Amino acid sequence: MEQRIKVRELLETEPRGQEVVAMGWVRSFRNDQFIVLHDGSCPGPVQVVVDPATLDPAMASRLTTGASIRVMGNLVPSPGKGQRVEIRAKEVEVIGDCDPARYPLQPKKHSLEFLREIAHLRLRTNTFGSVFRIRHALAIAIHRFFDQRGFIYLHSPIITGSDAEGAGEMFRVTTLGFDHPPRKPEGGIDFREDFFGKPTHLTVSGQLEAELGAMAFGDVYTFGPTFRAENSNTARHLAEFWMIEPEMAFCDLEGNMDLAEALLKDLIRTVLEGHAADLEFLSGRLSEEERQRPMVERSPMGLTEKLRFCLDNAFERLTYTEAISILIASPDFKKKKFRYPVSWGVDLQSEHERYLVEQHFRKPVILTDYPKSIKAFYMRQNEDGKTVRAMDILFPGIGEMVGGSQREERLDRLEARMEELHLPREEMNWYLDSRRFGTCPHAGFGLGFERLVQFVTGMGNIRDVIPFPRTPKNASF
Ligand code: 4AD
Ligand code: MG
Repeated sequence: MEQRIKVRELLETEPRGQEVVAMGWVRSFRNDQFIVLHDGSCPGPVQVVVDPATLDPAMASRLTTGASIRVMGNLVPSPGKGQRVEIRAKEVEVIGDCDPARYPLQPKKHSLEFLREIAHLRLRTNTFGSVFRIRHALAIAIHRFFDQRGFIYLHSPIITGSDAEGAGEMFRVTTLGFDHPPRKPEGGIDFREDFFGKPTHLTVSGQLEAELGAMAFGDVYTFGPTFRAENSNTARHLAEFWMIEPEMAFCDLEGNMDLAEALLKDLIRTVLEGHAADLEFLSGRLSEEERQRPMVERSPMGLTEKLRFCLDNAFERLTYTEAISILIASPDFKKKKFRYPVSWGVDLQSEHERYLVEQHFRKPVILTDYPKSIKAFYMRQNEDGKTVRAMDILFPGIGEMVGGSQREERLDRLEARMEELHLPREEMNWYLDSRRFGTCPHAGFGLGFERLVQFVTGMGNIRDVIPFPRTPKNASF
């Protein structure tokens, strides 16, 4: 097809009356003269001015919201407010018509809930345009960050034959029929007949495979989709989400925390510095949303302030045990404001995490050394016999952004822990071999990509930062 100039480039071009060709979708057409044209390359549209005298009325009636068009004209300085340049059209051509009676997107404000029902079209709205351009920028920045530090991008499998991670409920992968599945003589399903000859699932994490990579390349990371069949319908959970999992050999928990903090700050900086226009749009959207909320629930900081604040402050680092003491001494605890109990050994609920981050420290917090009973088998055991070298990074408004640990690299300790938890050691020999043949201290973490995008874009619901969200009872499109 004919070469076009993207709107993003047009808006930055010096207007000297030069001839340009633009293609995109009509947002609105006013006074038989002004077309607001978006092509998704940037938040702003370009204004196209047509001459009503020469515009064929049949063509004018086809310039409806949502129609795709080609415009050829001269790029000139715009006399109107709000834009620097505009296209004086010489030719306007409709490429794809859009029936206004049936098109659900109108040039007005739609609720995020409504847009979720038309996820295939919501990508065309200003809000989702900004969200997904930032999501893209974050993904690129993640690869750049690790590449600059010499990490190898390791592709961990999506279908897994191991279910020992215990990070969440798994989705089964099978080609067996439901009506007459092959049975073992004792009665259970005979998975030897299944595609892989054994039970398989969608992965909940690429960590165990990443650990093997780290034992060969030193520093690796995975960045791929992960799946959890938890039945949690919250604003922070998806059944299919993307996770970034770095894993580093010759590294302890300190080094792990340093890397995670550096990564998060680098990513926030990238968006602040390189995506100001999208951020400004989302910031305005958020302030408007905040104004609809009761005074007491409003956030004192705007979106960019919140991002700057995370950049400018060192994350607070403390142990789980210290956090429990702070919670027990808090006014919220004394006034019985927490719904869930707090005592040493409990898993912290998001109300506790939010208290620590949003009220007590007022900045991101890294909690370490959790009780071993609430963490995975692979975390390095501390000498106290009660805690492990775990870390969770908690963010304002989001809660847990990162979960990670130093790993148990000592074979005897790891095997003993697996025994205690009744994990199948024979099936995990491939993993245990990393501790048998040249083991070393190593550490890593998982960063939930959508939670990161949520934080950076200020979107309240995680469903609004992934193009096609999968949640309980919802897998449309
Ligand atoms: O804390 P999690 O379960 O840690 C792991 O999976 C480890 N294997 C990571 C590692 O050490 N390599 O998950 C890591 C992060 C969480 O902190 C959260 O940000 C995100 O993944 N996450 C989810 N995001 C969206 N929807 C869900 N259902 C999520 N569950 C976890
Ligand atoms: Mg976790």
